[in-house]
Amino acid sequence: MLSRLILKHFSWYNVTMPSIMEKPSETASNFTGDYSKQVVSRKRVADYGEVYTSEREVNAMLDLVKPETERIESRFLEPACGNGNFLIEVLRRKLAKITERYAQNRLEYERYAVSALCSLYGIDILDDNVIQCRNRLYAYFTNKYMDLFGLYQDENYPSTIKFILERNIILGDALTLRNH
Ligand SMILES: C[S@@+](CC[C@H](N)C(=O)[O-])C[C@H]1O[C@@H](n2cnc3c(N)ncnc32)[C@H](O)[C@@H]1O
Repeated sequence: MLSRLILKHFSWYNVTMPSIMEKPSETASNFTGDYSKQVVSRKRVADYGEVYTSEREVNAMLDLVKPETERIESRFLEPACGNGNFLIEVLRRKLAKITERYAQNRLEYERYAVSALCSLYGIDILDDNVIQCRNRLYAYFTNKYMDLFGLYQDENYPSTIKFILERNIILGDALTLRNH
């Protein structure tokens, strides 16, 4: 409900995405991103309180609601998502569950993986964070898929993923509910 209320106030924000039919080659399939850099600049810390959460803390916090992080439909809204440290870990956990159940069935995997992606929402006030977050989720999702099934067979599938990310990971001010 909260996520619906907030999302209603934002128009979608268009960014360039990686090529949709190729495996993002520089990213290992189990690589969820670089957690080592927690601060981009002192100015951003002062202006936006931007300090990314470390992988250990992300996991410790998500473990407090572990069953929810593994339940495909459970929804997560990150109102200050940064470059996606929490969202990528939730996606990793959900896709791991889906892989356990549907690795032998591409169509079922595709259906549940899209459902998992649809359950993740993020807002950030800085556009480079929004772009990084979307690209990171896209790269992880695509690598996992291609490890299991090879290249996307339906060209609509990657555009669906892109569409979901553009709609769900958005630029805005989560406090004022205004576009930024
Ligand atoms: C402490 S960082 C946390 C980032 C991420 N949640 C993490 O744990 O790695 C805070 C984030 O909130 C963003 N932010 C600050 N004020 C905001 C606002 N009013 N609305 C949305 N995002 C905001 C910053 O750009 C920054 O990425």
